[in-house]
Amino acid sequence: MPKRRQATSITATALALALLPLAPGAAGEADLTLRDSAPQGFHIGSSVAGGGHLDAEDHPDPFTHDKAYTALLGQEFDSLTPENRMKWSELRPSEDTYDFSLADRIVEFAARKDQEVRGHALLWHQQNPDWLEEGDYSEQELRQILHEHVTTVVGRYKGRIHQWDVGNELIDDDSRLRTEENIWLRELGPEVISDVFRWAHAADPEAELFLNDYSIEDVNDKSDAYLDLVRELLADGVPVHGLSVQAHLTPAAGYPESMEENLDRFGDLGLRTALSEVDVRVETSGEGDGGTEEQLSEQADFYARALQACLNADSCTSFTVWGYTDRYSWIPSTFPGKGAGAIMDDDLKPKPAYGALRETLRSSG
Ligand code: G3I
Repeated sequence: MPKRRQATSITATALALALLPLAPGAAGEADLTLRDSAPQGFHIGSSVAGGGHLDAEDHPDPFTHDKAYTALLGQEFDSLTPENRMKWSELRPSEDTYDFSLADRIVEFAARKDQEVRGHALLWHQQNPDWLEEGDYSEQELRQILHEHVTTVVGRYKGRIHQWDVGNELIDDDSRLRTEENIWLRELGPEVISDVFRWAHAADPEAELFLNDYSIEDVNDKSDAYLDLVRELLADGVPVHGLSVQAHLTPAAGYPESMEENLDRFGDLGLRTALSEVDVRVETSGEGDGGTEEQLSEQADFYARALQACLNADSCTSFTVWGYTDRYSWIPSTFPGKGAGAIMDDDLKPKPAYGALRETLRSSG
């Protein structure tokens, strides 16, 4: 186990350097992108905006509409996660049809840009189509629908998706399996979790299969519940390979101080870990409020500490921000009075958090 760095001192240095004005046109370091700055084998990623909270916008798909946005997506990151385009509601207009058009474009773009792709998400209680949630299916019919979906979707991207969020948010905020809200757990029972991991593994033996959730960054009741679930699955020989903590953070809730220890708990079970949906929302007064200098400095510190925690944990090799720009962030539509959570602003300009990430990556060697 490499000597654990004193994250605080490195982070403080990274933060100080990040706040320095980037010398315009300086050669070398100031021009390095995030992916250029990452150590070998470590993936710095972003979600790909499109659909979901943007559905009601004039241009619901920035990935195909906003050339400046997409150019930076290819330049700065070496891992992409479709924010919505691989969810059931997007892929399955009806029981008998699939629409892979937008998901395919993201995967093809990633291949051209030498980027990994994180597939998101196969088993979830949200964003399932109405025909499924409101359908009148027998247990056997539902099981067949699920098996066909997993086999078809994972099989389609075989060899092109490196990590799948197979089980997404399966445990609720009371640290119990979502056996009511999640249609699959409710109608087919918790054993369906093992089935889906096995079906996904059969469809793509190379893909790393993850459990993904929020509020499990720290050692707490919910992450304890995941540790128990993972131990059970591993004991049954289920091909679960990873655990990702979403890391939707906010200074109002404090920094998850035991994140490194928590990641190591899953690493000690032989799992890969990742930070899969990182953002740091702050109090804002509404549209156009990008946060105060002090808020953005504290935000940069949270980003840098979270990245350092991942870099320090041997099992953690992937850090993905959930939207790299405030321009298309999900946060204001979900958390009124909060926003400015991304590492670049509405104008696609780097914020202190961007510099803090880049310096943390560089100083990790
Ligand atoms: O489907 C309804 C539609 O019937 C209704 O008319 C419309 C009214 O606004 O809302 C539609 O739901 C939207 C949904 O996407 C599906 O399109 C929600 O408003 C919208 O907030 C939602 O946004 C996405 C959200 O997942 C869905 O829960 C966001 O774009 C996406 O960033 C967010 O991402 C999730 C990850 O997948 C899992 N982890 C948490 C993360 C943030 O919630």
